[in-house]
Amino acid sequence: MFDILKKSILSKDDIVTLLSLQDEEKQQLFSYSAKIKLQNVGNKVFLRGLIELSNICEKDCYYCGIRRSNSNTHRYILSHDEVMKAVKNAYEKGYGSVAIQSGETSSKAFVNKIDKIVSESKSVTNGEIGITLSCGEQSEETYRRWFESGADRYLLRIEASSEELYGRLHPNDEIHSYGKRINALEALRKNGYQVGTGVMIGLPFQTGEHLANDLLFMKQHDIDMCGMGPYIEHTNTPLYQYRAQLPPLAERLALSLKMVSLLRILMPDINIAATTALQAIEKGGREQAIRVGANVLMPNITPRQYRNDYFLYENKPLSANSDEDELFFLEQRLQATGHEIGYFLQGNSLHYKGPPR
Ligand code: 5AD
Repeated sequence: MFDILKKSILSKDDIVTLLSLQDEEKQQLFSYSAKIKLQNVGNKVFLRGLIELSNICEKDCYYCGIRRSNSNTHRYILSHDEVMKAVKNAYEKGYGSVAIQSGETSSKAFVNKIDKIVSESKSVTNGEIGITLSCGEQSEETYRRWFESGADRYLLRIEASSEELYGRLHPNDEIHSYGKRINALEALRKNGYQVGTGVMIGLPFQTGEHLANDLLFMKQHDIDMCGMGPYIEHTNTPLYQYRAQLPPLAERLALSLKMVSLLRILMPDINIAATTALQAIEKGGREQAIRVGANVLMPNITPRQYRNDYFLYENKPLSANSDEDELFFLEQRLQATGHEIGYFLQGNSLHYKGPPR
């Protein structure tokens, strides 16, 4: 296996081989990527306090629990004050950044609302808080406006980089166009953001080749950040009918960890998030991802009464502990593996070569 890893360029076939490693060889892969991570981005883990702004969504993606057609969901949108309270609280606790995530809509009211949140978040924190937006496809003008108001980064998952697979996961219409999503990623880059993308892992119809190509897609697009995690079925979605074809959850977790590990090897200096869906499969899933290559954590700081409604997939973790306790326990477990949390640091992607703000 190490002969493959020593190659300066990994081919698609190499990656497919590496994604299939088991047991001892898989552990060797993980040790290798852990080392690359420490050499390139160090042992600090950066926090993005995750605010799930709204589950109102105009899209109808076949995998997602908050899809437009799911009438079993109680729809909400946080008020401006609720968001600002969460931002201020995060800032005081030493979260260097917040991530504002939302179902997709591009109404004027929504665009203005985000704009106000972004500029006020910067002004009440002396410009110190880093802001990641994850609010889907928007016009280039909207992206520009939000950037000018202070947003630093944008996460727009491609979900599946194969157009054919993407087509099987989304309705075949204008608002779910693969081409538009690619254009949106390019518009984000052009307008100065640190750009992140990602995919779901263990989807129905997905092969090892798809996953290898996903990693090569991220490399080709020269992304600065990645958030990817296991696909987890949701009862009220069309893809649920294919659940019998899915690899077991434990396998989806193992595959996700291999994806993180390989992405770290392919792109040593980017930011990679240990995503919530990993934790939905196994309590220590995120810590495992940190060990093999991830360096960003996104603890949920959404006001508690809304969390049940942002129900993207089953088993989404909902802890009885307070957020402070959760973070404390997580920190303890990370310290045991030689990691420390980068409090009060924005933790921007070292890969980003755009103009300094
Ligand atoms: N399983 C895992 N991840 C999902 N997402 C949506 N639905 C699911 C699911 N069933 C992810 C998508 C989206 C992000 C907000 O949540 O990748 O971009």
